[in-house]
Amino acid sequence: YPCDVIRNFSIIAHIDHGKSTLADRLLELTGTIEKKERGLNKQVLDKLKVERERGITVKAQTASMIHNYAGKDHLLNLIDTPGHVDFAWEVSRSLAACQGALLLVDASQGVQAQSLSVFHAAKDRGLTIIPVLNKIDLPAAQPDIVAAQMQSTFGINPDDMIRISAKSGIGIEAVLQAIIDRIPPPSGNVNDPLKAFLFDSLYDQYRGVVSLVNIQGGLLKKGDKIMSCHTRKKYEVVEVGIMYPEEVPTASLRPGQVGYVACNMKESSEAHIGDTLHRVGAPVDPMPGFKPAKAMVYAGIFPVDSSDFPKLEESIKRLTLTDRSVEIMRESSTALGQGLRLGFLGSLHMDVFRQRLEDEYNASIIITAPTVPYKVIYRDRTVLVSNPTDFPDVNDVASHVKEVQEPIVKASIIVPEEYLGDMMDLCFNHRAENVDHKYLDASEATSARIILTCTMPLSEIVTDFFDKLKSRSSGFASFDYEDAGYQASKLSKMVFLLNGKPVDALALIVHRTAEQEVGRAWVKKLHKVIPRQLFEVPIQAAIGKRIIARETLSAMRADVTAGLYGGHHERKLKHLNNQKESKRKMKRVGSVELPQEAFYDILSSN
Ligand code: GTP
Repeated sequence: YPCDVIRNFSIIAHIDHGKSTLADRLLELTGTIEKKERGLNKQVLDKLKVERERGITVKAQTASMIHNYAGKDHLLNLIDTPGHVDFAWEVSRSLAACQGALLLVDASQGVQAQSLSVFHAAKDRGLTIIPVLNKIDLPAAQPDIVAAQMQSTFGINPDDMIRISAKSGIGIEAVLQAIIDRIPPPSGNVNDPLKAFLFDSLYDQYRGVVSLVNIQGGLLKKGDKIMSCHTRKKYEVVEVGIMYPEEVPTASLRPGQVGYVACNMKESSEAHIGDTLHRVGAPVDPMPGFKPAKAMVYAGIFPVDSSDFPKLEESIKRLTLTDRSVEIMRESSTALGQGLRLGFLGSLHMDVFRQRLEDEYNASIIITAPTVPYKVIYRDRTVLVSNPTDFPDVNDVASHVKEVQEPIVKASIIVPEEYLGDMMDLCFNHRAENVDHKYLDASEATSARIILTCTMPLSEIVTDFFDKLKSRSSGFASFDYEDAGYQASKLSKMVFLLNGKPVDALALIVHRTAEQEVGRAWVKKLHKVIPRQLFEVPIQAAIGKRIIARETLSAMRADVTAGLYGGHHERKLKHLNNQKESKRKMKRVGSVELPQEAFYDILSSN
């Protein structure tokens, strides 16, 4: 396939606007997958159980298809992008391998927060954008209104928009034609030195880490000795091929092509997204803008039964083979024993990982409250703190620390006008600044929509912000955010004391304005969950020597002996069945005895 018959494109959309469904239709219409096999195929493509349950794409899927148009076979490479805000970075990465993108908008929902961010990501990369209105089969679809909305928001001519139903298969042929007609072919010369852009990787049980690449120049084939610009590691190519839709070996990969390369990479961390591969001895300029994935949410993970630690560590290592963006460190806690501290791209990423761990490895785990990475600036150095235990005490902050900074984000919320007040309220309650809003719809549409933008500390959105946003807008608000650097902030470490002894695993970093509220809430929660002891136990929240909140757990009466433990959580049943044994394993915090489950309940009811 010479370059002029190749098209490299992505489908970009807000979550649930129909990306996977359209991808399925394109693969079917081009005969890449058979229609009758669809049910089956869908399962093959959506491999992860969590993906199916949550209906989100976690891992990008890439596939090539061949389409005969105007008497010529064309090779169309669909580079799939994950569809959630935590993965925005991966989206922008995948776009670097494309010349065009289908911007898919649900005709019943209209432009949403991520429609905007993916549009800008594609536009900034100079991609040809093909606007597609999906779900026109729905009775609630308003294609004309949404077309007007897209014109006013994106400056796209309504005549260029393709109206389709990915579900019932209307308009799919027109999409294929537009891909060939409107998207420019890739450039690249087979006589140039090899330059392969690594935009994704997958893990194969037999071949280890397999990289997905886009050939920018030269030829890549079996036996080639290649080298990574980023790690300087050398490899010998074992196999190359295309995703059709699963791996199909080919003799070589040519300029403009998208395919996979297996070269005995052992660790997923060797395949750096955004890296450039070249032939050993023939260096090339790396593709610009390489930056490694940055963990923004950290949490400690501990086994409920401490003797399970080796198994937990092994399970986590295996899971991270397929998810290279998770950062892992060892951690140990006096309360919870040995564990691991993991860094994630965002809180959804963390939830997905936790669920996979529970589903696929049947592991019962305790996850500490999520923390963002803070910058503690001393006179002579800056320390990045991703574990509250490492955060300096309030006295040290006063005497040694010049400034504490926290990561902030630029958030955008799209919402029908009538919810604006509620949304502003919600944002202000989460320390929003620079709040601004404007109408998204230029026309006098019956229910106009607003785009609200603000800056907010990342820590404010890692817990339940998204749930609150959804419930306070009756599900209508959509939300997106991007990294906006660091900002000075008044933060302190809050510790919880049982009978005067701190419980390290429960430490939190709290903003000055939230000290009272957070302290009280946690102390109440602890009071509910901790079993009574033979003596009275004060439960306190403290910042330095200052006690912020207190509850007292009264002593148990002599006639009450068993069945005291009464924490509630949905997952508890399953968990107790798995772990009957560990109920007897008690943890000591000073003189207080705690079943490990108490931690499970305290920390899983965040
Ligand atoms: P993520 O991968 O999570 O970003 O979602 P997605 O954009 O891939 O959406 P997906 O294809 O999973 O579709 C979301 C829902 O919309 C599914 O329930 C689809 O069946 C439905 N859907 C997709 N296209 C159409 C359409 O043309 N008409 C109707 N009525 N439903 C559709």
